[in-house]
Amino acid sequence: MPEQYQNGNSARQPGSVPHNVTHSQETGNRNSQNKSNQMTSSKQQAPRQQNSGSGRPQSRLPITEICGKGLDSWKLVKKLGSGSFGDVYLGVNSTSGEEVAVKVEDLKASHPQLNYESKLLNILKGGVGVTMVHYVGVERSFNVLVMDLLGHSLEDLMILSNGKFSLKTSLRIADQLLHRIEYVHSKGFLHRDIKPENFMLGRGEQCNTIYIIDFGLSKRFCDGRTHEHIAFNDKKSLTGTARYASINAHRGIEQSRRDDLEAIGHMLLYFLRGSLPWQGLPAKTKEDKYRKIKEKKIDTQIEELCADFPSEFTEYLRYVRGLQFIDRPDYDYLRKVFSDRFYAEGFINDGQYDWVEKLKAKEKRNRQQQQGTEGGTLNPSQRLHQSQENGEQPPNENTDDPNTTKQEPKSQTDGQDSTSGRKPSMAARLFGNLCRSHKRKNNPQRVGGA
Ligand SMILES: Nc1ncnc2c1ncn2[C@@H]1O[C@H](COP(=O)(O)OP(=O)(O)O)[C@@H](O)[C@H]1O
Ligand SMILES: [Mg+2]
Repeated sequence: MPEQYQNGNSARQPGSVPHNVTHSQETGNRNSQNKSNQMTSSKQQAPRQQNSGSGRPQSRLPITEICGKGLDSWKLVKKLGSGSFGDVYLGVNSTSGEEVAVKVEDLKASHPQLNYESKLLNILKGGVGVTMVHYVGVERSFNVLVMDLLGHSLEDLMILSNGKFSLKTSLRIADQLLHRIEYVHSKGFLHRDIKPENFMLGRGEQCNTIYIIDFGLSKRFCDGRTHEHIAFNDKKSLTGTARYASINAHRGIEQSRRDDLEAIGHMLLYFLRGSLPWQGLPAKTKEDKYRKIKEKKIDTQIEELCADFPSEFTEYLRYVRGLQFIDRPDYDYLRKVFSDRFYAEGFINDGQYDWVEKLKAKEKRNRQQQQGTEGGTLNPSQRLHQSQENGEQPPNENTDDPNTTKQEPKSQTDGQDSTSGRKPSMAARLFGNLCRSHKRKNNPQRVGGA
């Protein structure tokens, strides 16, 4: 067993408070080591699945009801997504009927993280695009976190938008992402796992607000009291998702604010181009793969990467790659770079993202399908089947990790038993038809490390 994995076994225990975490404790870091090892070795993945609950038969809910304080209780309806440590379920408040997302983690999980995440969400509470926590507790043998239900992830939406985002949409996304990450940084934390799956749209009035989720790899970079920045270190292993990670993260340099911003830059180019040049590189081992991704990233000139797009993307990447370790990025400047281009193009800030019409059309089709089905009820797999018949856009097939160990969210088609006989919920309608794309698309691999 590699030393790194042994370190990972001494991971943060539930109850540790991110507020009190000093950089020398490196809880975020140890947490990421855990993830790293679980993500990088299928041998290590297997035992996690057995004891984390995520290895259970996909159709079974681990618990059926969560009882919070007072009158609040939530029934679990179906699985929405699988994380690297637990699963996320659609829940419904038994009194109000309000739909929520419930993240569930086995109490026996070897590297628990849900408590850490809930404390971080508490620190970030009130920020635009931050999920509100309704309840945190223990239910039977699981840690549970009940939070706002969100809509589609940027990855879902990109697939829906024929595998790319337009310049207009990408520029508006950039503006929101810079606000989100500035806010997280302003609270003293790095995200360290920037990727399209970790940004989701809100619902209802917030349907055009991009939320930042998944703080499992977050790390405090700035002491809450002294404001001292964490120390430079160049003996780290890669933390995050290789496809979007900064070059310095690949090089083993301790991440700081600049790395989140560089990863956002890579993600924006992914949106515009539909893929990145370091996707799909052949490699025999994970280590080989990461080395090749790193080399290709280093070899790809910024001008080449951004060749087909306005110079502002080159400017952005040059700026963030030029930042020093402890530099505070000038978020306002970066937003202005993008917004100037937005208006220079003659775009109007009318909320018309690429996905708006696509989602409307999808909703309309779903409604029609419901009406045309006996009893007006469609379970997720029926909806999936019908969406295929409707000639839905094939998924983006650019993959860079065919042997990814990340569980695919195939469970989005699960839980049919529990939804049968009920009118499909808004969330089920929203999520149902995207599962085919998810199933066939290989997720980029997330890695962690010291
Ligand atoms: N609040 C939410 N509403 C709806 N779906 C969610 C929510 N939070 C997470 N998910 C779904 O669950 C998946 C895994 O959650 P995430 O927090 O990213 O866990 P992990 O750290 O394991 O990646 C997400 O990619 C998303 O599909
Ligand atoms: Mg995630």
